[in-house]
Order: sequence, then structure tokens, then C-alpha cells
Amino acid sequence: MASSTPKLLFLLSCLVLALLANAEVHQHEFVVQETPVERLCNTHHIITVNGQLPGPTLEVREGDTLEVNVINQAPYDVTIHWHGIRQLGTPWADGPEFVTQCPIKPGGSYKYVFTIKGQEGTLWWHAHSSWLRATVYGALIIRPREGKEYPFGKPHREVPLILGEWWNANPVEVIREAQRTGGAPNVSDAFTINGQPGDFYNCSKKETTAVPVKPGETALLRFINAALNHELFVSIGQHKMTVVAVDASYTKPFTTDVLMIAPGQTTDVLVTMDQPPTRYYVAARAYISSQGVPFDNTTTSAVLEYDCGCATDFGPKIQPAFPALPAFNDTAAATAFAAGIKSPETVKVHDHADEYLFLTVGLGLFNCEPGQLCAGPNNNTRFTASMNNVSFVFPKTDSLLHAHYYKVPGVFTTDFPAYPPVQFDYTAQNVSRALWQPVPATKLYPLRYGSVVRLVLQDTSIVTPENHPIHLHGYDFFILAEGFGNFDHKKDIEKFNLVDPPQRNTVAVPVNGWAVIQFVADNPGVWLMHCHLDVHITWGLAMAFLVHDGYGELQSLAAPPVDLPMCK
Ligand code: C2O
Repeated sequence: MASSTPKLLFLLSCLVLALLANAEVHQHEFVVQETPVERLCNTHHIITVNGQLPGPTLEVREGDTLEVNVINQAPYDVTIHWHGIRQLGTPWADGPEFVTQCPIKPGGSYKYVFTIKGQEGTLWWHAHSSWLRATVYGALIIRPREGKEYPFGKPHREVPLILGEWWNANPVEVIREAQRTGGAPNVSDAFTINGQPGDFYNCSKKETTAVPVKPGETALLRFINAALNHELFVSIGQHKMTVVAVDASYTKPFTTDVLMIAPGQTTDVLVTMDQPPTRYYVAARAYISSQGVPFDNTTTSAVLEYDCGCATDFGPKIQPAFPALPAFNDTAAATAFAAGIKSPETVKVHDHADEYLFLTVGLGLFNCEPGQLCAGPNNNTRFTASMNNVSFVFPKTDSLLHAHYYKVPGVFTTDFPAYPPVQFDYTAQNVSRALWQPVPATKLYPLRYGSVVRLVLQDTSIVTPENHPIHLHGYDFFILAEGFGNFDHKKDIEKFNLVDPPQRNTVAVPVNGWAVIQFVADNPGVWLMHCHLDVHITWGLAMAFLVHDGYGELQSLAAPPVDLPMCK
């Protein structure tokens, strides 16, 4: 009796705390299914969640738990990834196919269960199998917990605006064909905002996404770049935007005419409706940093529609004001935008790391082997891509996390190199052809629990230099510095921002340049890091970290959920 009283008191106070915190459990059912939709003058049978494009928006508060039962009624293997969610203690719910789980087979299901801890802002979810994420994606909005406020004035309105990429062909077939031939996949036919291409495409005008607003109010627009293969510039006719968060981390407010959002990234902006009450375009088109590569040069649009409460009916006939968008290759605009993003206050950043890695990121070409199709450059090569000359190969018989947990041999090795095997002038005009062929392998880089990891991500000019959006699963990182040319430790260390560096989950590494990122490996599991241009991840621009268990109670991997999909 004597000993059970304190225990009971403890349990009671836990209950009270839980009630006060008001954390909720949100249950959802995601049915992945084939759905007919009309786009660009034709009917297409696309894969959706619950018949919707974009899929359902998940709205939660920090501290809440999501339980999403994914039921696969589509004819493809599928997994769902919760992009940017830290998955603290729930690595089995992360979702990348063959990394933290095997695919959910047609007819199968898997329930993703995770709690959102310490993150607020805009994230999203998407399929992480083949190119299904072209149509299987949606917003994941995290508001402050009850009683807490945004660090900026409460907006009058909040609108998610998801930028997507559309193919008239089946995207799964587009990438299958490219993998068969070794050539580049066909470029997309449109970009979309909330699933609609907008006024500048055939048969699309009636469906253009409209954003109703009131004069004088301030709206929080939550932009998400869900496009597969294009970084995008975004502008609004005659309106300035104040950036207040990126990738579910708040920023110092900063005002701009144009955003550059790479696939995987999100940008929250406040817009005050201070212009004459009429109609204004929100428009987006590509930022292209590569050379001589075909791209989708179309422009997607939505319309801000002022409700002026006045007698004049502006109606749909008034031509909305069109914003100035940067030229496709305006690297200066992309650079200026990135430079404006900072953490709101001084943050705690370790000035030294336990692990220093230098990773080249870039494309490559395999020479043609007898019996292969080789539709790459000169018709005798196949496209590939790599980090530190390793072209990542996803396992087929097991997931990396499952193989790690059960010590299954032969699925991966832990010898991913911390440095490029050969040092060369990474951004030179003519890198020797001898360096263009990476080695295909499934290599992980092991990390001790709690280690501070500093990574230099260095673009190469092999095949073409390009701005690569590198996404790390399971972590937010600080971007300590970015620059052009080859990273030079002696001179570039002066550029490091250890005071208020931006925090993100996806960094757009400057074309022919570098970025330095840093994170603390405080979440055991297997965490994929890859280029979020899907064509590049398909070619192998990826690697994974294996974060070992710590010694504390909540520092070791839990057993997999019973419904975790198996490969066989
Ligand atoms: Cu948004 Cu590995 O992905």
C-alpha cells in the first residue's frame, strides 16, 4: 500500500498532464486506388489516395499522433513517406521502399503510426515507390499545440498550395521505359497548383485553382514543391511575400518577390492583400541549372481573387495581373533567395563535429555493356548518378532497417566512403572521362548514437553541373554555408554561420557549388539521404546512414510493428 500510493499519484499526474497538453490521435484511412481524372483535354487513369488529387490534407497539432492505415487497392507496389517528420522512435513508419519497409503489395495494407514532436509548420506526404508520387501526395500541416501561437500574427486565412508535376503518360511507365533504355525519361507535360495546371494550358482554364481573399487581410500560404524533377520559381502578381517558415522550421521573416522551392521543400509565406481588389496570378515555372538537358518550360498558375464587397463584378473575365518570374537559368535569383533564409533566433550549433564527411553529388554515364540498350548520350551510354562514386542500389529481398534489426547478412555493407575515392577538380569544365562511371552498391555509413555529423555536399560537373535538392530522412539539419566552385576548407570555413543558420530537411546544393550541413544523430535507424529529383534517385543519387542504438532507455530501435510488409 505504502509504495503504491506514490505510483498512483505519479500515474494520475501523468494523466492530468496528458489532458492538459490535449494531444490528439488522428486516425485516417488512405485507400490507394486507380482513379479517372480529366486533365489537359483527356481522361487519365491515375493512382490517387481516396480518389483525390492532391490527396487528403492532414492537419494536426505539434504533439499529436497520426495513425494512417494505408490500404493498397492499386495494381502497383506502394509505400507512403511522411516527408520531414522526424519519426523519433518510430523509424519503421518512415516509409521509403526497401529502406525502412518492403512495399505494400496490391491487396495489402500497413498502418503508419507516429507522433509529431517539436515540429511546427508545413510538411507533406508522398508515395516512395517508383514514380507514384507524381499523383500520390498531399499536405501535412502541423499547427502549434493548444494554447501556443504562431511566432507571427495570426493570419486571417491559411491555404496550402501544392506544386505538382503532370505527365499525360503513366509516370510509372515513363520511368520504366527510361530504365529499360538507359536514356533520360520524357519530361512532364504540365506543372500544377493543387492538382490543376491553370490558365496557360489547354482545356484547363475552368478548373484553375482559385484562392479567395479579402482586401486588407493577411493570408498564410503554405507552398510545397511536390514536383518530381523540377525546382520551381514562384511569384504572385503585385504582391510581396514574407517568408516565415521553411520545411516546418520557423525563419526570420524576410520579404521577397520570388521564391525558389526545390522538390521536397516547403515555404510558408505571409501575404497581405494590400493591392486594388481584383485578380492576381500565383505563378510557378522551372529553375533550370543544368545545361543542354530538356525540361518542362510551361507555367502553372492559380488566382488570388479579392472579394471586394463592392458592386463591380470583376468576374472571371478580368485578366489577372501576371508576376515577373526569373529567367529559367537565373541562378542569381535562386542564390539570393536561399541567402535570405535564417533561423529566427540564435540557435545552438556545435562548432565541432564528431564525423566529417565530404560527399560528391552528381550524374554519371555507364559505358554500354553487350546486350544492353544504351540510349544515353552518344547512344552508347546509360545514365547513372552517385554520391562519392557509389551509385546506390536499393535492395530487393529485404529492407535495410529490417536487415539491420535482424542482422540479416548480404543485404548491405557499412563501408560507404567518407570521402570521394579520387579527389579531382569537381567543378571543372572537362572532368576526365575515367571518372564518369560510378560503382553500383548498397553501402551505408554507420553513425554512433548522438554523434555530431558535418557533411560537405559537393556538386560535380560530370555530364552536367546541376542544383541538387538533397533530402535527409528522419532529421532536420542546419545549413552552415553554401558557395560556388570546389569547397575549400581553409577559406570557406569563414563563411560558416554558427549563429542563426537555417534549419531544413532538404538543401538545394548550388549548381557547380557546395553546401555544408550539420545534424546530431539522435535517432537510431536507417535513414536515406538522396536527391529529391526523382530521376536522380532512380539513377542512384542516394546513400543511407545507419544510426546505431545508444545506451539510454529511449535510444534503441523498437521491434517492427506486426503488420510491417515483408518482401516475401
Ligand atoms: Cu520526400 Cu525520400 O523523400
